[in-house]
Amino acid sequence: MSTSVIILAAGKGTRMRSNLPKVLQPLAGRPLLGHVIETAKKLNAANIITIYGHGGSLVQEAFTQEHIQWVEQAEQLGTGHAVKVTLPVLPKEGLSLILSGDVPCITQQTLQKLLDASQSSGIGLVTLTVADATGYGRIVRENGKIQAIVEHKDASEEQRKIKEFNTGIYAVSNAKLHEWLPRLNNNNAQGEYYLTDIVAMAIADGLEVASVEPELAFEVEGVNDRVQLAALEREFQIFQAKQLMQQGIHLIDPSRFDLRGNLTAGKDVRIDINVIIEGDCELGDNVEIGAGCVIKNTKIASGTKVQPYSVFDSAVVGEYAQIGPFARLRPGAELANDVHIGNFVEVKNTKIGLGSKANHFTYLGDAEVGAGSNIGAGTITCNYDGANKFKTIIGDAAFIGSNSSLVAPVTIGNGATVGAGSTITRNVADNCLAVERSKQFAKENYQRPQKIKK
Ligand code: UD1
Ligand code: CA
Repeated sequence: MSTSVIILAAGKGTRMRSNLPKVLQPLAGRPLLGHVIETAKKLNAANIITIYGHGGSLVQEAFTQEHIQWVEQAEQLGTGHAVKVTLPVLPKEGLSLILSGDVPCITQQTLQKLLDASQSSGIGLVTLTVADATGYGRIVRENGKIQAIVEHKDASEEQRKIKEFNTGIYAVSNAKLHEWLPRLNNNNAQGEYYLTDIVAMAIADGLEVASVEPELAFEVEGVNDRVQLAALEREFQIFQAKQLMQQGIHLIDPSRFDLRGNLTAGKDVRIDINVIIEGDCELGDNVEIGAGCVIKNTKIASGTKVQPYSVFDSAVVGEYAQIGPFARLRPGAELANDVHIGNFVEVKNTKIGLGSKANHFTYLGDAEVGAGSNIGAGTITCNYDGANKFKTIIGDAAFIGSNSSLVAPVTIGNGATVGAGSTITRNVADNCLAVERSKQFAKENYQRPQKIKK
């Protein structure tokens, strides 16, 4: 049977004290709602219906590439009312998973378990038992069977002692939602239409309400303020770090590692402390990443060593390269095998061939460097004239002396040499030496100026 996913995301999130709607606040670099949508997609949901209200257009704009049905809940009259507004677009058959946009870490496994458990009766929920469930809706059971959910504010002293609570995640038959939701009322302590009241309706219909617990408690943690957001961020990071370590990555300290995206890695990859990985990254076997590196949408092949505090954005690095410390590889940096990029070297939109080196203080932008070339300290490709950008081509086995400016467009041939301190504005032929600097002047027995006595 096909599964629909309904995501509640109309709440204001007042306690965030933010101009950004709560469900757009980032966890591990992705909006809270984005995590829920990703998980829904993994379940091959036939349709994903998201209920929006506060900050509506902003929320929709953040997910324009996703196939989502948006339903507006103009006034937030309660969770039951929120789901009720989806009825006009909700299929009449199948099961719906009801999720919260601010409970981002629920896993596919737990939801699959919930779907399986709810299949026969057509209603089930995810519950959790904790020492103190203050604030949550409590699960009232008789002879072990769920009878009702009582909201904290409506609960008796006795009921408030119940440690099992409703996490707000449900699987319900669509036919039943069509039948039950129009019958909800708001006669309760908060004057809201409670979705939780469908549990009592199911019992009245003679149905048995299924329940499952998540494998890990953080899966059902909600986010209401920035303190909770930061706490959940750490829990999620540790969860991801454990998965990576189980895949064979050596994280020197998982509590000082952040992954904001996806990382695929080979064997014996070693990552030192305070590294941030963003977007989609790939690290080959034996890659070593030094402390404090930030690596985004980048591919680094086997055997490459990256020294501390290097920053990568949309770069491709070959095997056995040496990068850093303090290197910056920007979009379009493509390094072949055995390339060395040293400290304070910036590479943008530049291909560097096998074994070439730029070890110190250099800018290579809009360039092509062949194999086996040496770029001396302080070399600058002057790629921009203030209006347009031009290309610098450096051949194989070229030698660029220190502190040279290569004014693009310009080509330095194979085996060519540029003398230190040159400003090169014309092409240099293969195997040619080009020097552009004034002749050295010498005055023997030179007397320096003396301080004037007063
Ligand atoms: C709800 C449950 C409670 C459960 C708790 C778990 C009800 C009546 N109670 O309580 O049993 O323990 O979640 O966190 O359902 N929302 C809308 N529109 C609305 C109201 C809420 O979209 O009109 C969304 C919120 O943005 C949020 C979710 O629904 O994502 C839950 O709403 P919230 O107000 O936090 O529910 P609780 O009172 O905490
Ligand atoms: Ca809540």
